[in-house]
Amino acid sequence: MLAAQAKGVGTVPQAFATDYAPQIKEHLGISADKRLVLGISVGYPDMAAPVNDFRTERSPLEEIATFVE
Ligand SMILES: Cc1cc2nc3c(=O)[nH]c(=O)nc-3n(C[C@H](O)[C@H](O)[C@H](O)COP(=O)(O)O)c2cc1C
Repeated sequence: MLAAQAKGVGTVPQAFATDYAPQIKEHLGISADKRLVLGISVGYPDMAAPVNDFRTERSPLEEIATFVE
């Protein structure tokens, strides 16, 4: 996702895609023994669209991560 962002391509991780694993695997020719764990939608974001001004809150880094040196 970071690599896509660096190329100006937006992504949205979507776990719900796994609800459609059989259909997605059949459509993309992915073998049945592979497990679908996540879908990632990819596209060029329209930054002029009002919805793209929406920002969700983030917890402070200290609250969610511990760095061990
Ligand atoms: C691993 C992962 C799976 C996600 N799966 C879904 C999903 O199935 N449906 C959904 O509406 N959002 C899902 N999200 C949330 C959205 O991708 C995205 O994070 C959300 O639109 C809020 O954007 P923000 O993370 O910039 O606040 C998932 C996020 C992550 C990190």
